[in-house]
Amino acid sequence: MNSKLKFIYEGKAKKIFAYEDSDKVIIEFKDDATAFNALKKAKFEGKGELNCLISSKIFEFLIKNKIPTHYIGLKNNNSMIAQKIKIIPLEVVLRNTAYGSLCKETTIEPGAVLESPLIDFYLKNDTLNDPLLTKDRINLLKIINDEELDFIINMTLKINELLKKFFYNIKLDLVDFKLEFGYNSKGQIVLGDEISPDNCRLWDLNQKNDTIVSLDKDRFRNDLGGFIEAYSEINKRINNFFKSNDFSSI
Ligand code: TMP
Ligand code: ASP
Repeated sequence: MNSKLKFIYEGKAKKIFAYEDSDKVIIEFKDDATAFNALKKAKFEGKGELNCLISSKIFEFLIKNKIPTHYIGLKNNNSMIAQKIKIIPLEVVLRNTAYGSLCKETTIEPGAVLESPLIDFYLKNDTLNDPLLTKDRINLLKIINDEELDFIINMTLKINELLKKFFYNIKLDLVDFKLEFGYNSKGQIVLGDEISPDNCRLWDLNQKNDTIVSLDKDRFRNDLGGFIEAYSEINKRINNFFKSNDFSSI
């Protein structure tokens, strides 16, 4: 990254730099992978680039479908230009199929398809290990008001419908995902962060039987191997599909 850019912030998977106007930033995607609140860490060469390219294509698709996001454009293969936003300290998880923490914390069987999407809110706070919230706790902590909460819920459900179709077209089942939202300089709530195999569970639909083949960060979380290969496969399928289709019409 150009050393003249003013560094703003470093997270587990990305670095943020100031850019041109004060309302824009550069987001640089790192090669680091972390899991379980960074108890587990590794570096995978090329991961930053893959997540940046995958996220940029997904943001383009969402923007075409009228979802407000922070994404402006690619700067290079591992960094994007985005609106500067004030992140709302909520991790918004939507689940279509039961897996991961939902199965560890309840009696629901892994792989059970949920009758309707489940939305879970977590407090974005590493020191507290991102605890699960209730709507009353969101009110109590004054994180956002009821109207903003409804807006975020509706937006998340819409994004789910769009992403489910998007991934189904490239033979992937969207099991669950995590979103983050923030306020832009006009005070509007927009989708932020990234959408990549780091924060989506994606199961390969190109399987003859019912075996679960994860093409996402579960390969690292659960020591399944083939991490970069899985991320490359997602990027390849997205690029092939973009070559022959206009994603705005799916
Ligand atoms: P979970 O089953 O661990 O609650 O994860 C649900 C989804 O959220 C899964 O797609 C992974 C994603 N996720 C993140 O992006 N960041 C996190 O810190 C966690 C815990 C999950
Ligand atoms: N994002 C979290 C971490 O960095 C956890 C996860 O994705 O599993 O530790």
